[in-house]
Amino acid sequence: MIKICKADPSHVHGIAKVCSDGYRATYGETHSKEYIERIISEFYNTDRIVDEVTKTSRYWGGYFVALDNNEVVGAGGGGMINDTAGEVFVLYLDPNRRNEGIGTMLLEAITKQQKEEYNASEQWVSVQKGNEKGIPFYEARGFIFQHEQNGYGNADGEDYISLRYCRQL
Ligand SMILES: CC(C)(COP(=O)(O)OP(=O)(O)OC[C@H]1O[C@@H](n2cnc3c(N)ncnc32)[C@H](O)[C@@H]1OP(=O)(O)O)[C@@H](O)C(=O)NCCC(=O)NCCS
Repeated sequence: MIKICKADPSHVHGIAKVCSDGYRATYGETHSKEYIERIISEFYNTDRIVDEVTKTSRYWGGYFVALDNNEVVGAGGGGMINDTAGEVFVLYLDPNRRNEGIGTMLLEAITKQQKEEYNASEQWVSVQKGNEKGIPFYEARGFIFQHEQNGYGNADGEDYISLRYCRQL
C-alpha cells in the first residue's frame, strides 16, 4: 500500500534516485544528455536534498514522498510564489510506477499544504514543452495552459521552452 508522508533525512537517497531516474525517463527523447545530466547534478544531488528536507518555509514546503513498503517510489514538493499563488516545483515517480494514482496522491499532499498552511487560491506549474508524460497529467488535474517562457536551465546555445500552467484551488 502506498503511504504519502513528509520527507525526512532517511528519504534523501530515495528522493535523489526517483528524481534522477524520473528525469532521465521523462526527457531522454527531447533533451540532450548534457542538459539532463547538468540539471540532475544541480538539483538532485544528496547534499542539496538534505538541505531541502531539513530547511522549509512557505517558499519551499519540503519534499513529500510516496512510500511502498518503506521504499521511495515518488517525490514532489512546492512552495508559494506570492501571497496567494502556490507552485509545484518538482514531481517525479519511479518510471515503472506511473499511472497508478501515485502522482495524484503526491499532488494532493502538496496542494493541501499550500491551501491550508499557506492560503493559496491558485497553483502553478512549469512543464517543459514536449513533456508528454507530464502535460496530460496536469491537464487531467485541471491545470490550464497560460504561456511559454524560456526554460530555467538553459545554457548558452540552448533554447528549451517551458510551458506555464495554472489552476484555481
Ligand atoms: C506526471 C506524473 C508525476 C503523474 O503521476 P502518475 O502517478 O503517473 O499519475 P496518476 O496515475 O496519479 O494520474 C494520471 C492521470 O493523468 C492522466 N494521464 C497521465 N498520463 C497521461 C497520458 N499520457 N495521456 C493522457 N492522460 C494521462 C490519467 O488519465 C489520469 O487521470 P484520471 O485519473 O483522471 O484518468 C508521472 O507520470 C511522472 O513522473 N511523469 C514523468 C515526470 C514528469 O513529467 N513530472 C512532471 C514534471 S513538472
